[in-house]
Amino acid sequence: MEQRDKWATKLGLILAMAGNAIGLGNFWRFPYQLASNGGGAFMIPYFVALFFLGIPVMWIEWTTGRYGGKYGHGTLGPMFYLMARESLKPKGALIFGIIGGMLAFAVSSLLSSYYYQVIGWSAAYTYYSLTGAYFGKDTVQFFLNYVANTKAVILFWGITMVLLGIAVGQGVSRGIERWVKIMMPLLYVFAILLVIRALTLGSPVKPEWSAIKGLEYIWTPNFTALKENFFEISLAAAGQIFFTLSLGMGIIHNYASYLGPEDDVVLSGLATVSLNEFAEVILGGSLAIPIAFAYLGPEKAIEGGVGLAYMALPNVFMHMPGGRIFGAMWFLLLWFAGFTSAIATYNYLVTMFEEDLKIDRKVGTWLVFVLLFLLGLPVALDSSLAYLSELDMWVGSYFLVLLGFFDVIVGVWLFKPDNFWKELHKGAFINVPEWFKPVMVFIAPLFMIILLLGNTWNYVKMGAFSVSEAYVTEVLEYDYTPEIIGLIIKARIVILIILIIGAIEAYLAIKKKYGEELEKNEVIIKV
Ligand code: ALA
Repeated sequence: MEQRDKWATKLGLILAMAGNAIGLGNFWRFPYQLASNGGGAFMIPYFVALFFLGIPVMWIEWTTGRYGGKYGHGTLGPMFYLMARESLKPKGALIFGIIGGMLAFAVSSLLSSYYYQVIGWSAAYTYYSLTGAYFGKDTVQFFLNYVANTKAVILFWGITMVLLGIAVGQGVSRGIERWVKIMMPLLYVFAILLVIRALTLGSPVKPEWSAIKGLEYIWTPNFTALKENFFEISLAAAGQIFFTLSLGMGIIHNYASYLGPEDDVVLSGLATVSLNEFAEVILGGSLAIPIAFAYLGPEKAIEGGVGLAYMALPNVFMHMPGGRIFGAMWFLLLWFAGFTSAIATYNYLVTMFEEDLKIDRKVGTWLVFVLLFLLGLPVALDSSLAYLSELDMWVGSYFLVLLGFFDVIVGVWLFKPDNFWKELHKGAFINVPEWFKPVMVFIAPLFMIILLLGNTWNYVKMGAFSVSEAYVTEVLEYDYTPEIIGLIIKARIVILIILIIGAIEAYLAIKKKYGEELEKNEVIIKV
C-alpha cells in the first residue's frame, strides 16, 4: 500500500482538529442561537447534548477515521464499507458505504458553498473596519449593499478560496499542519484580547446596559423558558453541538485518518471537544452578546439573530474607542476561525480525488476549487440570501444529524460494540469509564432518532417539504414571491444532484478497491 501522509506532530494534530471544530459556529452561530433560544434556557439542553451526543459521536468519528486510515482511506464511503463488513456480507456493507459517502460529500461540498461565502464576508469586514467604511452609516443597509455588490463578494470570497487552495494543496503535514500552527494560537490571542475589551466596556450608553448583564442572560438557567419551548430549544441546542464540533460532516473522520493505527484517540478526541467548548462557551459566549448588551441593550441584542455579527456589531465598533482596531480584530477572528474549518471540508473533497479517483493532490486541489466555485456562485449571486438559507436548513442541520446517526449504526453497531470499544482504546492515553459504553451504544443513537423525528415532524409542520407560504414567510422569513420560490427549488435540485453524485462516487470508490470482494461477496482484504 502506498504511504499516506500523516500528522507530523501531536501538537499539530490537536491544533488542526481544534481548528477544524472551532469555526464560524463558535463566534457567529452560537451567539445568535443562544440569544434567540432564551439564553440561560438554551444552555441546559446544550450541555446535555454535549455530554450525550457531542463527546460520544466525536470518539466514534475519530475511531472510524483512524480505522479507515489503516486501510488507506480518508473518505467515508470505503470507511463505512469496511466497518459494516464486520456484521454484513460485502454486498450489504456496500449500501452503508454508499450512504456514508453520499452524505459526507453532500455536507462537505454544499456546506462549503455557503460557509466560504461567510468567511469571505469576514475578510471584507476586516478591511471595512480598518478603513472605517461603515462608520457613521446604517449598518443593516451597509450589509445589504455589500451582499448585493457581486464584484466585492466574489473578490473577498475568491481571495479566501485561493488561500485555502494553497494551504490544502501543500498536503496534510506540510500544508494544513503548518497553517494551523500559526493561525490557531493567533485566534486564541485575538479572542482573549476581545473578551478583555468586552468585559471592560462598563456601561457606555445607559447605566442599565452592560456586558455583565449579557453574561447574566446567558448564565442564569431559565427553566421556565425552556419548559415553554422545550422541543424547539432542545433541537436547536443539539444542532449547535453537531455544527460546532464538526460532527456529521465527514471531516473529523478525514483528519483522524491521518493518524497511525496505534495513535491515541480517546484523550485527543476529548481535547478537541474541550478546546472547542472553551472557544465557544467561554470566549464566544463573552463576545457578541455581552458587547451587544452593553451598546445596543438587551432587546436589540436578542433580536439581532443571524445579523448579530455582521449588522449589529459594526454599529458597536463605530462608537467604541479604538473601534477600527477592535472591529478588524473581531472580523479577522471570524476569518481565522472559518478558514481553519474550511481547510477541513476542502481537504475532504481533495481526498476524494486523491485517494478514490487516484488524481494527483495538486491537480485535485484545483479541480475542487472549480467545483466549489461553481457551487458557490449561486450563493454569491443571490443577494436575498434565500438560496443560502435554504441550503443551510437541510445541509447545516438535518444532514449532520442523519450522518451522525449512521456513524453509530456503522461505527458501533455493525462494527459490533465490543470491537468498537477495543478499537477506541487502542493506544489510548486514558480509559473511557465502562459506564459510558451504554451512552455510546444506546443513548446517543436514541437521542439522534428523537432529533431526526423531531426535525422531520417540525419540517412537515412548517410545510418545508411542500414549500408552503408559511414556511417561506415564517421560517425563512422571506416574501412568498416566485423569485424566492425559484431559489428554494433551485437549492433543492442542487442538493439532489450532489447526493446522486456522492452516491455514485462512493460506489465507484468502493468497487475499485474491493471489487473482487463484492463479486465473491466474501471478505478478502483484511489489515
Ligand atoms: N465546526 C465548524 C464551525 O463551528 C464547522 O464552524
